[in-house]
Amino acid sequence: MRRSKQVGNRVINKSLKALRGEVIIPGDKSVSHRSVMLSALGDTPVHITNFLPSADCLSTVGVMRALGAKVDIISDTELIVKGNGLHGLQEPTTILDAGNSGTTLRLMMGMLAPQKFVSVFTGDSSLHKRPMGRVIKPLSQMGAHIVGRANNTKLPITIVPVEGKLKGYKYNMPVASAQVKSAMLLAGLFAEGETTVVEPYPSRNHTELMLETFGVKLKYEGSSITITAPEKMVAPKELVVPGDISSAAFWLVAASIIPDSELLLKNVGINETRTGIIDVLKDMGANLTIQNQRKSGGELVADILVKYARLHGTSFGADIIPRLVDEIPIIAVAAMFADGDTIITGAGELRVKETDRLEAICNQFAKLGGTIEGKEDGLIIHGSSTPKMAECFSYDDHRMAMCLAVLGIAGAGVEIQNPDCVDISYPDFYEELDRLTK
Ligand code: S3P
Repeated sequence: MRRSKQVGNRVINKSLKALRGEVIIPGDKSVSHRSVMLSALGDTPVHITNFLPSADCLSTVGVMRALGAKVDIISDTELIVKGNGLHGLQEPTTILDAGNSGTTLRLMMGMLAPQKFVSVFTGDSSLHKRPMGRVIKPLSQMGAHIVGRANNTKLPITIVPVEGKLKGYKYNMPVASAQVKSAMLLAGLFAEGETTVVEPYPSRNHTELMLETFGVKLKYEGSSITITAPEKMVAPKELVVPGDISSAAFWLVAASIIPDSELLLKNVGINETRTGIIDVLKDMGANLTIQNQRKSGGELVADILVKYARLHGTSFGADIIPRLVDEIPIIAVAAMFADGDTIITGAGELRVKETDRLEAICNQFAKLGGTIEGKEDGLIIHGSSTPKMAECFSYDDHRMAMCLAVLGIAGAGVEIQNPDCVDISYPDFYEELDRLTK
């Protein structure tokens, strides 16, 4: 894997030219995690291509190996994973380290809660601060024994075996979270009876789509999804990971706000539970064209042509948030360059991401000329800001670092502290940025 190692801060200058050309978008982080997790429950080898070799996905690889799955890394983006069948996970001899990855930890808690062995989880300092009660609580309702720090809400976390099986349970989710939904569905793979999750708003459905690819039948009724434990998982021979729209988002916005830009973003996953960013940017007047739409590995993909356009402010709220939850920081960047105000509500979940992203946006974007009001669950971003150069914190949050970089090339430059955290989701980000701006 290529890493964007940099000692100290990274200085990014204003781009002296428009962004033009093609960008091949790297594999989707959410789908990459799930491809390894579910392949580890099959008993025949799965050839995974366009895998995202980022630090988060490699945390999942480490955890699945510790549970007895065979993971051969063929190249940067190609793996062969072979499991020991649906009931073949083995007791890990080491502590499972989820690193910075909420997806690894929350989904694997669902998969491990029904097992007949002990598992102990740790992670990095950011993951230690994030709320895990949202998964521990409903899994405990199914009969799981999970103990964690801070009254069973935080890492470190230990899962203790249960007598018999977990019991199917109907969970009305208080927050729209694909990680919580997925944890419940994965626990449901092993539970007695039906396990149902009811979502307040639709969140990404990659777990459901991939479970179906592995032959598992799901029942959909309105906003509820029900799983019944299958006898086995039927692993496909091949899994192709689509490009990550959350990574494409940085180029969608960069090309929209830098005059004369025109980028063709190749192989972007456009699963409709993820395309909120496209809807919002179009609403702001962006010039985006979806081309060459096709199905790849059970997911919809396309190429997206984005051309510079004068943007204007917009407003959006809770119903669309799960479809763009990771893109709010980069939408805030677009809003700084738009005419008028952008009002975002119902986005309280951003306070419990890799960092408190609402606070990080307000504090750091202001240094670069932004005028942004932070609300408990949202933001008011005043447009037409006057860019300034400044030194900014990434908070060790990959998406914050990439937003600061886009603000730097579109505005007046930036110096980013702890820039290497982009390795969490987009290891080649700075190489692409250099290629497009030099
Ligand atoms: C993810 C779900 C989202 C998202 C995260 C990845 C997933 O989290 O923010 O980056 O792969 O399921 P929540 O489900 O907590 O909203």
